[in-house]
Amino acid sequence: MNQDKRIHHTGLQRKICSAEDAAQWIKHGDLVGVSGFTGSGYPKAVPGALAQRIKESHNKGEEFKIKVLTGASTGPQMDGVLAEVNGVSYRSSFNTDPKMRERINNGDTTYFDMHLGQVAPFYRSGAIGDMDVAIIELSSVRADGTLIASSAVGNNQLWLNSAKKVILEVNSWQPEELDGMHDIWEVSTNYPQDIIPIRTPSDRIGVDYMTVDLEKVVAIVETDMSDRNTPFSPPDDNARMIAGHLMEFLKDEKKKGRIPEKFLPLQSGVGNVANAVMEALSQGDFENLTAYTEVIQDGMLAMLESGKMSVASATSFSLSPEKVQYFNDNISKFRDKIILRPQEISNHPEVIRRLGCIAMNAAIEIDIFGNVNSTHIMGTRMMNGIGGSGDFARNSKLTIFMTPSLAKNGAISAIVPMVSRVDHASMDIHAVVTEYGLADLRGLAPKQRAELLIEKCAHPNFRPLLREYFKKGLDNGSMYTPHYLKEALSWHERFVATGSMLPK
Ligand code: COA
Repeated sequence: MNQDKRIHHTGLQRKICSAEDAAQWIKHGDLVGVSGFTGSGYPKAVPGALAQRIKESHNKGEEFKIKVLTGASTGPQMDGVLAEVNGVSYRSSFNTDPKMRERINNGDTTYFDMHLGQVAPFYRSGAIGDMDVAIIELSSVRADGTLIASSAVGNNQLWLNSAKKVILEVNSWQPEELDGMHDIWEVSTNYPQDIIPIRTPSDRIGVDYMTVDLEKVVAIVETDMSDRNTPFSPPDDNARMIAGHLMEFLKDEKKKGRIPEKFLPLQSGVGNVANAVMEALSQGDFENLTAYTEVIQDGMLAMLESGKMSVASATSFSLSPEKVQYFNDNISKFRDKIILRPQEISNHPEVIRRLGCIAMNAAIEIDIFGNVNSTHIMGTRMMNGIGGSGDFARNSKLTIFMTPSLAKNGAISAIVPMVSRVDHASMDIHAVVTEYGLADLRGLAPKQRAELLIEKCAHPNFRPLLREYFKKGLDNGSMYTPHYLKEALSWHERFVATGSMLPK
């Protein structure tokens, strides 16, 4: 590691220290704001040293837990190590780490799941208190002391503004050429807030660096560690069929003039299914695509390279190890085509509505009346969180949710009588896609939605059971939404009791 190459400010060079020394600045009960979004751009050294301190304190019988606010999910060197030592009393806003998930579900960590576009306004509201420390990963520091974010912008600038003490990690694994890709613009704190002047995904409205009061910087740690970069499962037949139905739908919408010739900006969610759809789009007929989204995944990078997509605006990357290597080696090809913004801007309702995004997110389960569960397994255990799916679902021109029709080797139907948790209400959802087909739900009443979802989207193994449930509701009196309440969650109960939603 060569500090002169990445930390060009002499005053800050003098603050370089070990992760262990930096971690000493964090105390029990502190509210800590951390960089990082979907496994990118999170600190990778200080959290490990902090976890060691926490473990030693716990061994001595002392209390030591911190409260953590992030951009979104981080990685094993951050959420993983802190969860391992039970070092987090409060966590928001999104998590995918399995160890932290366990802490959240068993109650060791209080978890506040929220829309990612609303983390910054939530913090500014004062409801969570003042931030004690920020730990922010950077790709470099300029000679004038301005800071260059790494592979995620998230809430970094707000944490830098707000924290009493700031710890910086400068990661030389991150390409230095990220300098110039970011667009930092701060939402006004007074009401009425300023209009956000983004009219196309390619608009740059801010500056390409972040700022901090240098007096607040208490430590700088140098690192050389990769982002989490989880591999995606290669698209399977189901993912390909989901993508196929979606493609037909979008083509038809375009033919009917409901999507303009130059298309509308795409938003694509996290996970294997969303990535597979992007892969399919990259091989499809559409040209001149753009993205106004939250994360840039493998499929989107392929479109940017082939020229099918001219520009992608996001707040972070979520790439496979293979693609991240390719990206880092070939960053100059992408430099003018990618803009990384604060998550408050990438997920802002005003911009999403103005641009007319096409939102495509994955669901855990969907009920026959069109409500979507994105977060809870069997209505009780937190999976990841709502992420940005609500920011986009509520405000996009077209909102599509997708899922394979079955989970857990066929024991679970993704189309259920009643969702065990509502994250997205039916009025926000325009279409649902599974490998069996796409249900266009626009303008339909609950009974019409149920017929379509059962016949077009449910797996044939579960269709007779869904028809039976729907009929019981219809036979049970005059109802707008004919639930048969006695059995509404009986499929979930059966799965918990027997390991399958199918009756024995
Ligand atoms: N019941 C129980 N488990 C289910 C299930 C269901 N109905 N549907 C899916 N799962 C399980 C899968 O079996 C899999 O489990 P595993 O990790 O043990 O193998 C896991 O959930 C992920 O499912 P997968 O089919 O691989 O989908 P995915 O990777 O596309 O993830 C979500 C799906 C919904 C979990 C994911 O998209 C998510 O967290 N969404 C919420 C946040 C979001 O939408 N963000 C995007 C905004 S920009």
